[in-house]
Amino acid sequence: MAFFETPPMSPLSPVESTIMKHWETNDEHGEIRRSDKENGGEDEMEPVFLDRLPDTNHLIVGRCDKYAVGKKIAQGRFGAVYEVLRHCDGKGFAVKLEVCDSHSHGLDMDCVVLSKAAKADLPNFAHMIDRGKIENHFKFIVMHLMGQNLCHLRYLFVGDRFSLSTALRLSLKCLEAIQQLHQLGFIHRDIKASNFCLAPGCSSKDLRVYLVDFGLCRSYRDEKGQFKTPRTKVSFKGTTRYASLAAHNEKEQSLKDDIESWFYMTIEFITGFLPCRGSVMARVISLKYTPKAEFKRLLKYIDCLSYQSHPDYVYLTQMLQLSMKNHGCKPDDELDWENNNG
Ligand SMILES: Nc1ncnc2c1ncn2[C@@H]1O[C@H](COP(=O)(O)OP(=O)(O)OP(=O)(O)O)[C@@H](O)[C@H]1O
Ligand SMILES: [Mg+2]
Repeated sequence: MAFFETPPMSPLSPVESTIMKHWETNDEHGEIRRSDKENGGEDEMEPVFLDRLPDTNHLIVGRCDKYAVGKKIAQGRFGAVYEVLRHCDGKGFAVKLEVCDSHSHGLDMDCVVLSKAAKADLPNFAHMIDRGKIENHFKFIVMHLMGQNLCHLRYLFVGDRFSLSTALRLSLKCLEAIQQLHQLGFIHRDIKASNFCLAPGCSSKDLRVYLVDFGLCRSYRDEKGQFKTPRTKVSFKGTTRYASLAAHNEKEQSLKDDIESWFYMTIEFITGFLPCRGSVMARVISLKYTPKAEFKRLLKYIDCLSYQSHPDYVYLTQMLQLSMKNHGCKPDDELDWENNNG
């Protein structure tokens, strides 16, 4: 295939023979069963799929421009994320690609959600600047380049955890992003630390996170704007470590399930581990190392939510802010990665 015949050492030479078919999708309801990958590590990819990934310095052609492929940032079962350089100005971006014939529709959903988020001008979502398809290889979207994901970031610190101040502030920012997705009409169904990235160069005065990976998203409203009627049985979707009790029981997920996963993720930010695997007892044990009073109230509140509940994001925010106040955490404390001592 011409695309892969690009000489590796001449990344910016034009590839006139690249066959491009513009990639169109209207699929808003694609569903995939997700693997058990929990720590933000790499998923095994079928060797036949691996052959379809681009090498460094290959050029890929989108609708608007060409991109030279750089460092691989992450790899999943059906695709990967790379740094790329835009041909016209050498500016850095990220490309997320999904191998053709993988029978995954994750990238279609990424595209749908990011397009709607851009129309609604939501601040906690990457801007998609281009997309395309390399016939017989992969389809891709090009986005603004973001910083580290919060899973990788957590592992940089002693005990694989953030300080309480950093953890609570990150959690508040993640909640804002989840609320925006909910207002857009989607539930995420795979809320976890590796699906939040830091905004590049953000500081304690301007802490920002981006929500990524919309492959398991589902729109939760029907044509009348009401909650869709829950299906009686659905196959498990998400990541077991963070999944809600309802998701483990193969029930239809809703807004509250994203909030439950957000709560588990927050516990993990603080404690560095998470024994929550769909058991009520494990959840109680994990609370032992968190700000007890506020976290017990949070869990009690989340457990009272039902399929049709609209979570009270203000209450959730206030509870974390109370937790900060009661434990001497200030909004302008140094973030863990800003602290030179460690
Ligand atoms: N625009 C971006 N800029 C920088 N890094 C990104 C960007 N988008 C994604 N990433 C990184 O790539 C990783 C994988 O992306 P994403 O979660 O969207 O892919 P996935 O393969 O669908 O998901 P999973 O890894 O959960 O299977 C993220 O955890 C994040 O670290
Ligand atoms: Mg992901």
